[in-house]
Amino acid sequence: MKVLVVGSGAREHALVAALVADPAVAEVVAAPGNAGIARDVPTMPLDVTDPAAVAALAQSQAVDLVVIGPELPLVAGAADAVRAAGIPCFGPSKAAAQLEGSKAFAKQVMAEAGVPTAMAHVCTSVDEVASAFDQFGAPYVVKDDGLAAGKGVVVTSDRDEAMAHARACLSHGNDAQVVVEEYLDGPEVSLFGITDGITVVPLQPAQDFKRVGEGDEGPNTGGMGAYAPLPWAPPGLVAEVTSRVLQPVIDAMNRRGTPFSGLLYAGLAMTSRGVRVIEFNARFGDPETQVVLANLRTPLASLLMASATGTLAGLPALSWQSGYAVTVVVAAAGYPADPRTGDVIEGLREAAAVSGVEIFHAGTTVRDDGVLASSGGRVLSVTAHGESLASAREHAYAAVDLIRLAGSHHRRDIAERAAQDAASAAVGG
Ligand code: AMP
Ligand code: GLY
Repeated sequence: MKVLVVGSGAREHALVAALVADPAVAEVVAAPGNAGIARDVPTMPLDVTDPAAVAALAQSQAVDLVVIGPELPLVAGAADAVRAAGIPCFGPSKAAAQLEGSKAFAKQVMAEAGVPTAMAHVCTSVDEVASAFDQFGAPYVVKDDGLAAGKGVVVTSDRDEAMAHARACLSHGNDAQVVVEEYLDGPEVSLFGITDGITVVPLQPAQDFKRVGEGDEGPNTGGMGAYAPLPWAPPGLVAEVTSRVLQPVIDAMNRRGTPFSGLLYAGLAMTSRGVRVIEFNARFGDPETQVVLANLRTPLASLLMASATGTLAGLPALSWQSGYAVTVVVAAAGYPADPRTGDVIEGLREAAAVSGVEIFHAGTTVRDDGVLASSGGRVLSVTAHGESLASAREHAYAAVDLIRLAGSHHRRDIAERAAQDAASAAVGG
């Protein structure tokens, strides 16, 4: 089997690595990729937001499967174009990707499907926003309706700041909408379901660290780190979310005549009143994918191909390595507001030699003089596997400490609390 992976982040690097490791895969190509992906497989330029270009590349490369990583090509209709060219594609149609592309649409589908989520108002004016603030009270949760790379959401108790964000969202055009919703308190969980539009196969639950600073301070980012599985998760969590969230949404999308195939990502809050959906994404999460795939033992291509060809029901149960994976994101100076690019990256060979460590590239490029340099906000995803969460963290941070990138920053507290809690639970018996 020959596979084309579309995208250029650490998530796509992790997908490429897992596909290369699958004995059923003879060849992997990626577009546009990044400097790290290009070390592993052939890469080629591609405007990922041009569906015709994605389909043309898949045809000219004569691939058997296209795997689309990011949301932008999905929302633009790349999966439709690939399928129209007769090539199996992992990823939802343009219509189905609206589950991520519009938060208002996602709320509507959740209401139809009876899925538990935050109460929300879709507002088109400042007056509507003000009355929603009055109804829900602080902290205020204000979400840009459309795609914003994880940065369109403001959660704050400062009403002026919340209103300023709402005004900015509403200034995006005549039909701009902003979603104001009830604040959900409790730990967050990311659960991915691989689906062919009918059957859904849940992966391991993961936790993402969205805020830029330690202790969850500062602005939201695309994600600063992750770990999986979650030692503290109640035993029935995956089954409950599958039956109360993933399957009902997939059934609702079917009833609408726009079946969802690919990866349905449920972002969840574990509130005192039970599990609530914060958001859906129509693709693998980044950086959660790096940890989930580090633990997955089932060959990846068979799973993605079964999603693309409607044959998931016939697949054997997934198999997982024992232990845990932790990813720490190394971000550029100034990320997320104004990331600096062009800084030299050193120490990767030593870092990658640390036991259990894999380094996935995101914003990296090779300069004309052959030197590896940063080219984006999230630069590297340093991923480690260990038998305990504590040992996975140790390996990941030992590797991070060997990487030299001027001005870069990372969080030191990824999976820290969960590792401490797991260790004290083990001691306590
Ligand atoms: P989203 O883009 O919807 O995932 O939102 C980004 C982040 O904002 C989430 O991961 C949460 O940390 C936070 N957030 C979003 N909605 C809520 C909510 N209703 N209550 C509390 N936090 C939220
Ligand atoms: N890590 C959050 C996301 O992929 O949207």
